[in-house]
Amino acid sequence: MTKKRDDFQDIIRKDQAERKNKTWSGTFLDYLELVREDSEIYALAHSHMYNVIDGEGIVSDDEADDSARSLKLWGDHPPRIYNFFKDEFFGIEPALEKIVRYFHAASMKGEESRQVLYMMGPVGAGKSSIAEQLKRKLTEAPPIYVIDGCPIREEPLHLIPRSLRDQFNGMLDVKIEGELCPVCRYRLEHEFEGRYENFPVTTMTFSRMHRRGIAVVPPVDPNNQDTSVLIGSEDISKLDQYSEGDPRVLDLNGAFNAGNRGIVEFIEVFKNETEYLHSIITATQEKFVPAPGRHGTIYMDGVILAHSNETEWRRFKADHTNEAILDRIVTVKVPYNLRLTEEVLIYKKMLGRSGFKSHIAPHTLEIAAMFAVMSRLESTPKCDLITKMRLYNGEDVLEKGRTKKIDIQELQEDAKFEGMSGISPRFIMKAIDTALTDSADGITPIQIRDVMIRKVKEMDFADDVRKQYLELLQDTIHKAYLEILEKEITKAFVYAYEEQAETLFQNYLDHAEAYVNKTAVKDNNSREEMQPDENFLKNIEEQIAIIGSSVDGFRQEVISYLWAVGRRGKKVNYSSYEPLKEAIEKKLMESVRDISRIITKARTRDEDQQEKFGALVQNMLDRGYNEYSADIVLKYASNHLWKD
Ligand SMILES: Nc1ncnc2c1ncn2[C@@H]1O[C@H](COP(=O)(O)OP(=O)(O)OP(=O)(O)O)[C@@H](O)[C@H]1O
Ligand SMILES: [Mg+2]
Repeated sequence: MTKKRDDFQDIIRKDQAERKNKTWSGTFLDYLELVREDSEIYALAHSHMYNVIDGEGIVSDDEADDSARSLKLWGDHPPRIYNFFKDEFFGIEPALEKIVRYFHAASMKGEESRQVLYMMGPVGAGKSSIAEQLKRKLTEAPPIYVIDGCPIREEPLHLIPRSLRDQFNGMLDVKIEGELCPVCRYRLEHEFEGRYENFPVTTMTFSRMHRRGIAVVPPVDPNNQDTSVLIGSEDISKLDQYSEGDPRVLDLNGAFNAGNRGIVEFIEVFKNETEYLHSIITATQEKFVPAPGRHGTIYMDGVILAHSNETEWRRFKADHTNEAILDRIVTVKVPYNLRLTEEVLIYKKMLGRSGFKSHIAPHTLEIAAMFAVMSRLESTPKCDLITKMRLYNGEDVLEKGRTKKIDIQELQEDAKFEGMSGISPRFIMKAIDTALTDSADGITPIQIRDVMIRKVKEMDFADDVRKQYLELLQDTIHKAYLEILEKEITKAFVYAYEEQAETLFQNYLDHAEAYVNKTAVKDNNSREEMQPDENFLKNIEEQIAIIGSSVDGFRQEVISYLWAVGRRGKKVNYSSYEPLKEAIEKKLMESVRDISRIITKARTRDEDQQEKFGALVQNMLDRGYNEYSADIVLKYASNHLWKD
């Protein structure tokens, strides 16, 4: 027991010592020395934020996991992946890149530093989460220097009088901006008799709870657009205590005061009245906000971050009297993710944060993600929706035994608004939660699809949208799942499936290579030379309808493709080349005709069949199912795949 208590105390003591290490106090004169040693101490809000983001670095090329996929998705211009965002956000790289670019430009004091960063996107696309991430990382960043006792924690260099600014700029290698706030000005005069070098300086960490450098403004009630929310107020109780114009009556707790040096976030910004928006824009442009009462203006340095969904944005944009405001906004579209693999990662992230610990059978999240992604895609004459989804996911799609050649970038250009509507991750998470609550033993793709169908029927969608969603769930996704399930069960049924597939693959390669190069095949055991076995090759190829005159071309392609993969230093295996993988899998599936009898005839299985069934179930358990979910999907398969 005491040992355990010591553990806690150790941790607490270490943490306190570390914090103490990071704090600093001194006079303004001491602070000047610090800045002379390291001029980067002086950083405006945008610069500071950019340094925090940039400081975490980017994912380097050799860290990036799948270069072949990246090439398919992005061509020669893959987006930068920032470590700052990488564990939290999936599939919206271009939006994140644009946000970082905004901070970069603003940190160079470009026009961006005087513009609002505005994120626009459909519900649940991650706008609030991005804002959250920026704020959270600020609170974890090392402290910054502030004037001790200043209500808006201003930059100490404001103490340097105008007349000396040029000289100090040169000595410190900085470019000082901003004016002392009324409260510090008053203290300088009355407390320090103008001796600004003695003013106390200290460090400050950002805190959302204490509204230190971070302020959040929800939409303000239109009947009560009181500016004190933004700029603070005068404390009425002090008004008779101090003379008029005495800044000690100021209560600088407005959003612009609280968010000084850091971030002021406006939620659903366009729900506010235009007048109110103008004061936000002025603050951003001028970097000054009015002080309450008759106290002049206060310099303000902060990132103004706003977001809303597209409907509000459109309404606002349609009114041309808003042009002046629009011109002062950097808009970043935050669309839904459109890649299946990444969509699953979003749910895994969200599930990781919830209290649910139940079993989730393989492919469950994938089926949910399919629905979400397809609901967001625009249809195209070039291919069907599920093909588009697979292409966007960087997968190879087969057409008559060949990989389909459609340019992803072209598809994207044809569908400019893609990702701005459809099913949100929140909808899916609610469906997953419902399914998990309904079933204590775990959930399967079958249950999640049922819940999604139910929810679509309940929700208030437009008729044509509801129809389209139900079609996706009841038809497209149903079929897609049956294909997955058939493969899944075959894999579990075929003894040592992967090894068998690998053997078929190696044999195919040996024979196809010999065929193409017009050489002989060496038998592995007897070392005897023999002619390539054309019947064997055809047997595989016909699985994907490669027959007759097309076999020569196909064999050539397989060999050169795999040769290219090998040359890039990648290991080749049976799944390296999608058409061949498909052929091999179909071949293996063909070899298990009796699978149906074993699965469907639960009551009449003989001993041998019972044993095979037992092995099948065991195999499924090894592949991530539990007894319950294996039972459900096997029953489903017997009803839909192998019914006699
Ligand atoms: N691309 C994504 N990557 C990771 N998580 C995501 C992504 N898109 C959405 N999410 C997650 O979905 C949930 C909803 O997102 P969030 O609340 O940030 O959306 P929002 O755009 O602010 O929506 P609203 O317009 O309704 O306020 C969050 O848990 C968020 O982390
Ligand atoms: Mg939000």
